[in-house]
Amino acid sequence: MDVILTGDRPTGKLHLGHYVGSLKRRVELQNSGLYKDIYIMIADAQALTDNADDINKVRNNISEVALDYLSCGLDPKKSNIFIQSQIPELCELSFYYMNLVTVARLQRNPTVKNEIQMRKFNQSIPVGFFTYPISQAADITAFKANIVPVGEDQLPMIEQTREIVRSFNSTYKEVLVEPKAVLPENEYCSRLPGLDGAAKMSKSLGNCIYLSDSANDIKKKVQSMFTDPTHLRVEDPGHTENNPVFIYLDAFCKDEHFAAFLPAYNNLDEMKAHYRRGGLGDGTVKKFLNEILQNELGPIRERREVLAKDLGAIFDMLEQGSIKAREVAAHTLDEVKTAMGINYFKGNSLLK
Ligand code: TRP
Repeated sequence: MDVILTGDRPTGKLHLGHYVGSLKRRVELQNSGLYKDIYIMIADAQALTDNADDINKVRNNISEVALDYLSCGLDPKKSNIFIQSQIPELCELSFYYMNLVTVARLQRNPTVKNEIQMRKFNQSIPVGFFTYPISQAADITAFKANIVPVGEDQLPMIEQTREIVRSFNSTYKEVLVEPKAVLPENEYCSRLPGLDGAAKMSKSLGNCIYLSDSANDIKKKVQSMFTDPTHLRVEDPGHTENNPVFIYLDAFCKDEHFAAFLPAYNNLDEMKAHYRRGGLGDGTVKKFLNEILQNELGPIRERREVLAKDLGAIFDMLEQGSIKAREVAAHTLDEVKTAMGINYFKGNSLLK
């Protein structure tokens, strides 16, 4: 039966990009009841690979991310939520996997390349950061996860993990499981741009709507969104492609939303056609997007406020999840060491 693992770095509260890119899907997969085990990891150790001097940021965001998870509908009875750094077996696995990966291969990883550029590391890339795809392979394989629901930017990590698994299994023994990425069904969800139209919604670019934003923040942020720069007057013909407001509608809007909030159109195609012809103002489109987002995020925010009143319960949940995750990872590590022939004291294997 299938096993799911995925996770997020706790470097900030989760935003709309995380929500449509991965969180929403996880909750659906969780509730489908089709999976044997579901592991959701708060990747604090990975977050430290480029935040070594900012431990407090990472620490403080662990509970924020856990609150985001639960408020979106992840249920600790069905999904095991845990903290990466509390599973030392992951470091041990990474250490052995490092011998199966070349520096050249890591240098080719497009996500890492892009992140190195964005962080302006130039020649001073922390080794831990450079090698995080290997540690991510440990995260996935420690739980023998075969399904990894992620956003598009994580595909190179899954590919790298698959290579490590194949290399391990052929060098030593068939122990590890090759995972497969599961992307959101709609391409707009995989890669939600920022409010400013930048390629990605990202905390460092300040172009996010957070799951914890107030109704008023959401409204203001939607009003500030970039649209088509050539659409100056309402009568002007406009472009819907590469227009962030329409990309968000592509990601979130369903036909029911028109019936509920904008009955002048039956569906998004009709609305887009009007915008392209001219005569539909950005204000109307933004007002509609705001209604949709308020409708989706309102219940999440309300649950979050309730859950935030009992952080003790959140910590207990994370502790229990981490204890359970550690048992599973320890079992895999044991198998890995046996396969490699380095479980020396097990059954006196060194003497044989
Ligand atoms: N790299 C992921 C992110 O930046 C977090 C992560 C760490 C992860 N380990 C993972 C995701 C394993 C999926 C599987 O959000």
